Amino acid sequence: MISLARYAALLRPREMRQTIAASLLGRLPIGMTGLGILLLVQSASQSFARGGAATACYVIGLAAVAPVLGRLIDRHGPRSTLVACAIAFPAALIALVVAVHEPAHPLLILALAAAAGATFPPITVCMRTYFRHRLGDDPLLAAAYSLESVLIELVFIVGPMLVALFVALASPATAVMFSAGCGCIGTLLFLGSPPLRGWRIEAGRARSLLGPLGERGFIALSGVILCYSAAFGLLEIGITAYATERGKPALAGVLHAAMVLDDGVFTAMTPERVAGVLRPKAHGALALHRATEQLSLDFFLLFSSIASLTGGVGQSNYAAANAFLDGFAHFLRGRGVPAISVNWGVLSDSGVVARNPALMRLLRDQGMRGMSDEEALAGLGMILSGTAGQVACMKIDWDLFSAELAAASGFAGDLLKSARVAQPSKARGLLSLAEQLAENPGKSPIELAESSVGAVVAAVLRTSVDRLELRRPLNAAGVDSLMATELSVALFREYGLRFSVLDLLRTLSVADVAARILAKLKPAPAERSP
Ligand SMILES: NC(=O)c1ccc[n+]([C@@H]2O[C@H](COP(=O)([O-])OP(=O)(O)OC[C@H]3O[C@@H](n4cnc5c(N)ncnc54)[C@H](OP(=O)(O)O)[C@@H]3O)[C@@H](O)[C@H]2O)c1
Repeated sequence: MISLARYAALLRPREMRQTIAASLLGRLPIGMTGLGILLLVQSASQSFARGGAATACYVIGLAAVAPVLGRLIDRHGPRSTLVACAIAFPAALIALVVAVHEPAHPLLILALAAAAGATFPPITVCMRTYFRHRLGDDPLLAAAYSLESVLIELVFIVGPMLVALFVALASPATAVMFSAGCGCIGTLLFLGSPPLRGWRIEAGRARSLLGPLGERGFIALSGVILCYSAAFGLLEIGITAYATERGKPALAGVLHAAMVLDDGVFTAMTPERVAGVLRPKAHGALALHRATEQLSLDFFLLFSSIASLTGGVGQSNYAAANAFLDGFAHFLRGRGVPAISVNWGVLSDSGVVARNPALMRLLRDQGMRGMSDEEALAGLGMILSGTAGQVACMKIDWDLFSAELAAASGFAGDLLKSARVAQPSKARGLLSLAEQLAENPGKSPIELAESSVGAVVAAVLRTSVDRLELRRPLNAAGVDSLMATELSVALFREYGLRFSVLDLLRTLSVADVAARILAKLKPAPAERSP
């Protein structure tokens, strides 16, 4: 055992203390750089495989070139090698930080990590050689070598702690830059220390090119160190990955329900209105996927809508945004993500429809019944326990719904066929108008029709018939696109006649609508002729 007095004797000369302090600063990167590179690349790429590959390249560069640097020092002294390393090592690390930030091609990142390892300043080699030169057969040599081991252990303990501190306070890039700075400044200080000035080259050993590098024993020793270092590297990456994984709050899955509505007739759509509705749905889904693609999720749930299956009046942008979600769910399943797109019908307890009674009425008139939260959650439970990538969950009045979608093709058409839906609802208003016309031959047919249509329009506008100006366009009475849609549905239901939302919004008056309905009731000219 080496007594404390020996250590004290070793550290007594001022030049020894200076040299050891400079060497300690220059060697701090031994304990920092590998971990720093691992976290730098991992945090940018979200991949421990990439981070581990970069660290491995760093260590391989270090292991492959360190004996060569040692041999150069043997042959030419340490000065030129240390100066070159004091410049190249921080330069490689700075380039690595920039490349990861860009991000550059993965191979360039690996090459820069290897370059950093290859240019690591060989201060430890110099220190051990220096002790041997300086102390020769002095009993203090054992204390010097022992102190060296302690210093290396210290570097391996303090280095990772500093990295952790930098990562917690700033970022892995800061830890790598600090390491670069220590390597550069420590090496330059070490170069200025007295022992380096009086360095002697051992002439005999320096003569051959390879020196001890060609000896059989050296190759065997390298093999042993390689295995030992591999275990060391595995631990560094394994422990970091494990700690990162354990430190993360558990994320079972993703539920994407964000949306923005900006309904309007198709001709009024602008790129901005389409983008505004696509952004939360489509961009949101992409962003959530990117943020979680490295994680093993139990579910990736996308809230879509029936609008992407059947379309919806004034909802071209919303239908497109939801159709993206449906397609994206299938795409993600192809990549192993447990994605499900749910085409919701109408939710009556919460959400945008529940907040808007007029919209709720309109959708109800189209055949869509509201689902309570309880019903929707029960449906969701069933969907999550299934294996489908896309499921529609809705409550439908098939009579009304099929009347609305009588001419539907594609998914909606198939849906209606497979549901064997009933006939479209009877045009009660038309029958009643026909009865009134038959019972009141003395009355003006157009006035009877206007009064019948007026009642339907007044109900939609939540006003009374006598407050309507029958010959003014409906938009002058405050009909907006939602009301026009509701009115179109109501007129179809009452009279079996389709009026376009656009026409109702722009030009038609109650009188115009009544005239068309009356025309439907009159027999065709061919039927009139004898
Ligand atoms: N309610 C229904 O009957 C129904 C029917 C079919 C489908 N869906 C679907 O179900 C989902 C939820 O609908 P909901 O009725 O509950 O809608 P909602 O009440 O209007 O809620 C939409 C939410 O999305 C958020 N949001 C909008 N843009 C966002 C963005 N860029 N980033 C993050 N969040 C954003 C909104 O946040 P802010 O409030 O902060 O803006 C709001 O909390 C939607 O995807 C919808 O398409 C609902």
